[in-house]
Amino acid sequence: MRAHSETTTVTDDAAVPHGARAARSVPAPGTGPAPRHTRATEAVLLVGGKGTRLRPLTVHTPKPMVPAAGVPFLTHQLARARAAGIEHIVLATSYLAEVFEPHFGDGSALGLHLEYVTETEPLGTGGAIRNVAARLHSAPGDPVLVFNGDILTGLDIPALVATHRRTGADVSLHLTKVPDPRAFGLVPTDPDGRVTAFLEKPQTPEQIVTDQINAGAYVFTRSAIDAIPAGRPVSVERETFPGLLADGAHLQGMVDSTYWLDLGTPQAFVRGSADLVLGRAPSPAVPGRCGERLVLPGADVAEDAKLFGGTSVAAGAVVGPGARLDGSAVLAGAAVAEGAVIRNSLIGAGARIGARTVLDGVVVGDGAEVGADNELLDGVRVWCGARIEPGSIRFSSDAG
Ligand code: GTP
Repeated sequence: MRAHSETTTVTDDAAVPHGARAARSVPAPGTGPAPRHTRATEAVLLVGGKGTRLRPLTVHTPKPMVPAAGVPFLTHQLARARAAGIEHIVLATSYLAEVFEPHFGDGSALGLHLEYVTETEPLGTGGAIRNVAARLHSAPGDPVLVFNGDILTGLDIPALVATHRRTGADVSLHLTKVPDPRAFGLVPTDPDGRVTAFLEKPQTPEQIVTDQINAGAYVFTRSAIDAIPAGRPVSVERETFPGLLADGAHLQGMVDSTYWLDLGTPQAFVRGSADLVLGRAPSPAVPGRCGERLVLPGADVAEDAKLFGGTSVAAGAVVGPGARLDGSAVLAGAAVAEGAVIRNSLIGAGARIGARTVLDGVVVGDGAEVGADNELLDGVRVWCGARIEPGSIRFSSDAG
């Protein structure tokens, strides 16, 4: 699902801080100026999900480590957080946890202090946040940012923190508007931006009461993190947020209509990678100038191959003569033979695409081989290491 526009609209009318939760250091309206600093210095990044919707890309690689615009997707999130003034980030890992630290280390290359906490059993989104609490430096009344690890967005992070401080909320949520909210959690708000309900994945027209959805970035008051039950799976969307609301806590929504994309599905991931290359999605971590194509050092692209629409080609990948690649990503060591036509597709690490083969809206898993003269369309997933013989699969007649 894609929600992308040129402008940023931030709606966050100040609300009176109240609710059944602990007192906070925010002055009541009229009793003093709002705190001037709007920066939170630490964040939790949720990167432990299995990424089942993205398979086979997530068979060997956790979703946040799948390359987008030439670098693991997580790099973009870390760089954006750093640019927003965040210095300390705790990564909550679970699935394929061992791959994060060897790549990012202590985070100093990105100007960050990174820590890693691995769950022995997956604890869900809320359980994962609670599980890293001991590593946070914030005092009980301080704001702590929490990000889902699969969202590409131009969110104004300092504005979300400022909203949180100004309104004295227990939790503030980034909300975005989408044309079809059925796959998401709806978050209606009152005229002051205060959350009135959480409606997970509504199906009937009566349940679709708003086009505002939970966009996967939050500011928690530290004490609200400590209040999540420890040591068992908890869903922040299904348990923590509805529970807080039922207890009379203050949950504040901030609608920010800048670029937003949930990279949970293959098509969305490919779109996100292309938008990063094109410069439509903002990131300080794109390794090169934004434009129609991004060819990384060590890639070998034939002179007459045509690369456009935000196509990226990773180190060690080869693109043969006359190939046309539009809005696609070719990962490390993959090979695309002469005359292949590839649109909106992702070619996994070390995969091989034969001559004249056409791919449109396809993901090819790591090490797979699609022989010459095939035609694969519309959401086909070729599994890692699979082999499709030359001339085996077509969607159109071979007579054209
Ligand atoms: P799907 O299986 O395709 O739904 O993807 P997912 O596993 O990533 O789940 P989802 O998109 O709902 O997760 C939202 C965010 O929370 C992602 O950044 C996940 O990495 C993260 N996440 C989900 N479950 C867990 C968990 O049990 N532990 C940790 N640490 N993170 C999680």
